[in-house]
Amino acid sequence: MEKLSGKKKIAVLISGRGSNLKSLIKYSKTKNAKFKIILVISNNAYAKGLGIAKKFKIKNLYISYKNKKKFESQSLKLLEKYKTDLICLAGFMKILSNNFINKYSKPILNIHPSLLPKYKGLNTHKRAIENKEKYSGATVHIVNKKLDSGKIIFQKKIRILKTDDKKSLEKKILKIEHKVYPKAIIKFLTNY
Ligand code: GAR
Repeated sequence: MEKLSGKKKIAVLISGRGSNLKSLIKYSKTKNAKFKIILVISNNAYAKGLGIAKKFKIKNLYISYKNKKKFESQSLKLLEKYKTDLICLAGFMKILSNNFINKYSKPILNIHPSLLPKYKGLNTHKRAIENKEKYSGATVHIVNKKLDSGKIIFQKKIRILKTDDKKSLEKKILKIEHKVYPKAIIKFLTNY
């Protein structure tokens, strides 16, 4: 990938609500934005995020995940067709296979709602509260072959209050994610 010149083309993979997708689209519409979202793929036909992409006139597709191999090969074909420079996972709740990661020659980023390497996987907020953690946060990292384990690009920490529960913590962290993901992508693209 060449240094930042012109806007980089990003594909976003989602599974649901799509609030991070929305924040990335909104950033991409600002003056001097360094990237644009050109493709949205969902493994869930009912993902609210598909409606968000549609509203912003971004090519969006549901691809069935009944057959993971097919999902991945169809996605790879599309990514090639649209010549994307980067994939951003945004609430994509499936694990990409080694085959997919090997075949997609460009980088893949993910946002995760914890201070990685702590709390990989699911139910991050519940586990952080149960373990009486003082802090949690959001992490943007490069996707590699191990779950939530690639190189960290950006991390933002917040204090967990005694009054916080799973829901309030999720809400606070999501708000942070919306700010952090566009910033992390810019940082990544600038240094890549
Ligand atoms: C976000 O909190 C994101 O970090 C998390 O799912 C949520 C999706 O929300 N992702 C993961 O847990 C991936 N392991 P959104 O669909 O509104 O962006």
